[in-house]
Amino acid sequence: MTDASSTPALANIGVVGLAVMGSNLARNLASREGNTVAVYNRSRSKTDELVAEHPEAGFIPAFSYEEFAASLSKPRTAIIMVKAGRPTDAVIDSLVEVFEPGDIIVDGGNAYFPDTIRREKAVRETGINFVGAGISGGEEGALTGPSIMPGGSDESWVTLGPILKSIAAVAEGEPCVTHVGHDGAGHFVKMVHNGIEYADMQLIAEAYDLIRRGTGKTPAEIADVFAEWNKGELESYLIEITAEVLRQVDAETGKPLVDVILDQAGAKGTGAWTVQTALALGVPVSGIAEATFARSLSSHPEQRAVAASLPGPDEEFRVDDVDGFIEDVRQALFASKIIAYSQGFDEIRAGAAEYNWTIDLGAVSKIWRAGCIIRAQFLNRIADAYAEQPDLPVLATAPYFAEALTRGQAAWRRVVVAATQAGIPSPAFSSSLAYYDGIRAERLPAALVQGQRDFFGAHTYKRIDKEGTFHTQWSGDRTEIEAEDTH
Ligand code: 6PG
Repeated sequence: MTDASSTPALANIGVVGLAVMGSNLARNLASREGNTVAVYNRSRSKTDELVAEHPEAGFIPAFSYEEFAASLSKPRTAIIMVKAGRPTDAVIDSLVEVFEPGDIIVDGGNAYFPDTIRREKAVRETGINFVGAGISGGEEGALTGPSIMPGGSDESWVTLGPILKSIAAVAEGEPCVTHVGHDGAGHFVKMVHNGIEYADMQLIAEAYDLIRRGTGKTPAEIADVFAEWNKGELESYLIEITAEVLRQVDAETGKPLVDVILDQAGAKGTGAWTVQTALALGVPVSGIAEATFARSLSSHPEQRAVAASLPGPDEEFRVDDVDGFIEDVRQALFASKIIAYSQGFDEIRAGAAEYNWTIDLGAVSKIWRAGCIIRAQFLNRIADAYAEQPDLPVLATAPYFAEALTRGQAAWRRVVVAATQAGIPSPAFSSSLAYYDGIRAERLPAALVQGQRDFFGAHTYKRIDKEGTFHTQWSGDRTEIEAEDTH
């Protein structure tokens, strides 16, 4: 914000869409030296409210797109903070009408990256720049410093970079924003961020469930466990808020709040997009997928009511060594978390190759160190791993993580076995372990699958001992022939 005597007549940045995220982002922008912020909202009342409630921000209110464009210095730069989908398209169309070549339209919502690729292409034809920028950190992050993942052109980054750096969270002196890559790269990376967020949350939820059912500890007691874990290698925002959620008592009933919240998890779609995209790319993000499916499973009360009659194990689950079990769960959580991040980074690597983006995985891990929902101490370790080896094929094999997996694998296995025997669902823990065992296996039964495919569909197979593509004549004399790989 600039003081009144030097307030320029024009704003260097504008925000369209003044619901909580938009107004908080506008306030964040206005609070930084050198920024003057124009604001516009479809319904006038929100604009009036924001301007009246925050005179210190020095907002320039606009009540039409023409006024909004006239209040911005060139190149005009506007961040759209409206609902993903049709509302975003409508705002883009309106801005394109009043903006000029060289101006910049930024979509700061959670857009699906193919939409961003499409929009960027269409808007580029008008000479206007379009940038899809993932913004993470929730309402508070928008206000105090989010992690920002912009895509778009190099030209737009010249103007946008300093503005976004001014409002981003700071980790070890570095702003949590980087030009991720062209067109949809920013929203792609934000999508995977959310996929990892789903996995992280599900893993924490499984850890809580196992401890509660295995030890009989109360939510408040488990809050203490999480608070303790937050002092070590698991230190992260999600662990921190988990302790707070578990400690919360419901004012109406006096029960732990977690016991009165309906156990059906919602989802706005970013987790599903991450999994759909991974399936299309052929990347096994099994931890993220199981976390997404776990939310779906929870949200089918009609099925759950019927299936409740199915039997579980006879014996009640109670561990003898409470502290030992909790430490095992901690190790299993850390190991599974390493796998979730490893899978997520694998998807970003594959997405970059598919869509011709140059994405610096180390830079991505650095901008996730603060501001965003998955911020965690160990993102520094991921940054170190990519600094050491930028083309690392499997993040989990970097020395720090390999050591942690080596140290934690026995506990991880004990926890998955205990959960299985106790009939406690732990899809994220167990699928992460299965991925670990799969990716490290010297030989997989995929060879048998290839044999089956060749049997029923002549899909051919390759051999370990010579070049070429082969088919066995299963219905005839079962001799092997060299085949054209046409299936
Ligand atoms: C963030 C969050 C944010 C939002 C999620 C919630 O990074 O700030 O991820 O984008 O809270 O989209 O997603 P679900 O409603 O699907 O859990």
